Amino acid sequence: MRKWAVIYSSVTGNTKMVAEAIADAADSADIFPVQEAPQDLSEYDIVAIGYWLRLGQPDPMTLKYLAQVENARVVFFQTHGAEVNSEHAITSFARAGYHLGKDCEILGTFGCQGKINPAMLEKRKNAPADDPHGGAAAIERWKKAASHPDAEDLAAAARLVGNMEHKLAMRERYLAKKQK
Ligand SMILES: Cc1cc2nc3c(=O)[nH]c(=O)nc-3n(C[C@H](O)[C@H](O)[C@H](O)COP(=O)(O)O)c2cc1C
Repeated sequence: MRKWAVIYSSVTGNTKMVAEAIADAADSADIFPVQEAPQDLSEYDIVAIGYWLRLGQPDPMTLKYLAQVENARVVFFQTHGAEVNSEHAITSFARAGYHLGKDCEILGTFGCQGKINPAMLEKRKNAPADDPHGGAAAIERWKKAASHPDAEDLAAAARLVGNMEHKLAMRERYLAKKQK
């Protein structure tokens, strides 16, 4: 059994929903909003850190926290308006990794869309078409994001737990074999 810390930052609740799905799926998990997350993570086998995207990277509170995380095995989860697997979303994982403190290992990642704050949509609705937030494609993306995280996203987030534990077990087995 692996002990998980699930740490999340969430303003409108999307990332929190994913965090809860992950924590519920683990046999042993402590869940913390990032404001209350511990600095000493040494008791955890896996530290899942979840954030929402702002300016194509983790939100500011998470960025600050990531720099303090050291010597941990990390799983990132993120929610965003962008399409899953878009260049924007993938680059955000890289940016999250770049901000981690020393001696961390990234075990895996999970991302899904999350509905966008209506106040933000109102502000962006007249953005020019050459702006990343303007034009028909952006409106289409926001419409799609509006139903997420959905039941499928949350089921996939829950499966992440088993997948990561399996991956870790396989790595440990491989490394033990190599040492013999
Ligand atoms: C100020 C602001 C900036 C955002 N910037 C991005 C962004 O750069 N890329 C993106 O894909 N989504 C962006 N979004 C959408 C949020 O990341 C998305 O709605 C997320 O699911 C919100 O998570 P939460 O409900 O946990 O707060 C932005 C939303 C806000 C309010």
